Amino acid sequence: MKKLFPSYVRVPLIFAIVFGGMEYFIDSGDKPAFIEYPMVSVFLFVFLFLLVAIEIVVSAVDRVTYHLLTDEQRKQLEEAQSVSFTDSKFVQNLLSKLTRSKPIEQEGELMLDHDYDGIKELDNDLPPWWVNLFYATAVFAVIYLVRFHVMDAYTQAEEFEQEVQLANAELEKMKANSPKEEITLDKVVLLTDEASLARGKEIFTNACAACHKADGGGIVGPNLTDEFWINGGGIKNIFKLISEGSKNNPSMVAWNKTLESTDIQKVASYIMKLQGTKPAGAKPAEGEKWVEEVAPAETTATATDTLKVAAK
Ligand code: HEC
Repeated sequence: MKKLFPSYVRVPLIFAIVFGGMEYFIDSGDKPAFIEYPMVSVFLFVFLFLLVAIEIVVSAVDRVTYHLLTDEQRKQLEEAQSVSFTDSKFVQNLLSKLTRSKPIEQEGELMLDHDYDGIKELDNDLPPWWVNLFYATAVFAVIYLVRFHVMDAYTQAEEFEQEVQLANAELEKMKANSPKEEITLDKVVLLTDEASLARGKEIFTNACAACHKADGGGIVGPNLTDEFWINGGGIKNIFKLISEGSKNNPSMVAWNKTLESTDIQKVASYIMKLQGTKPAGAKPAEGEKWVEEVAPAETTATATDTLKVAAK
């Protein structure tokens, strides 16, 4: 029989299969396994080396034996090698087992006496691969019928529901893993929607009212309802101070360790809204009067350049 592949195809093919298999089965994260684990590279290298070495040795042995053969043996060998793969005994046996066909010389035995204007009919056996497939579908049909129509296993609708549930669970997981929205100093803007301000008020009442009073009038901490600010007014300065704490007074701590940046933005927006409420019993003004660089103060766009003013 002829060799199926020449060695220059065989070696790369075997190597590619082993390489692909290692990449598939070794869990190496984002990087390919042979970069992540140097041992894999070493193994692959040695493996390739061995493959090439084996090919060389085998072909050398072949050549030597060929020289030792007598003329007759050489002829036999060449004959054997000239048979193609599909003509080989193995393939022929396999095919006749699968089809149970008779060789053309024995066709006479199969001939039916049907004869239509010289067109004759053969009575071949059904090929076993086909017959067995047919039996298999029959068995499948019985099992299917009993399971889904007699025992009432799940219906298509239930199957659909299950799939949807699975997909939803997957979605939840993805949402939980995706990074939370981060508000940074240069991104922060004044929020005016009800929900954000309500959340801001909630945080203020829970975490800040102890020092700033529930109405913002101030106790330990300064009055947050007037126009005077120690650390500069405007959404950016307030956001920055709440996040990083006050350098002048350690009792106003950095809240970025306890609160999400989105929550700090909300409570800062809520404080901005206390402006001018003049609660009774408020502390006297501290710091400098804050004038927004760009009027009017209500719009979110005014918050942009307030830091510069604070710096002086
Ligand atoms: C333990 C008391 C305490 C708590 C709690 C506290 N603060 Fe303060 N806060 C202060 C003090 C004291 C200052 C004055 C800092 C300074 O002099 O720079 C201050 C200053 C501030 C300022 C700047 C005022 C200005 O005039 O510059 C803001 C805004 C502020 N706090 C917001 C908050 C928020 C929001 C919370 C809740 C998340 C909070 N504070 C919780 C004590 C507190």
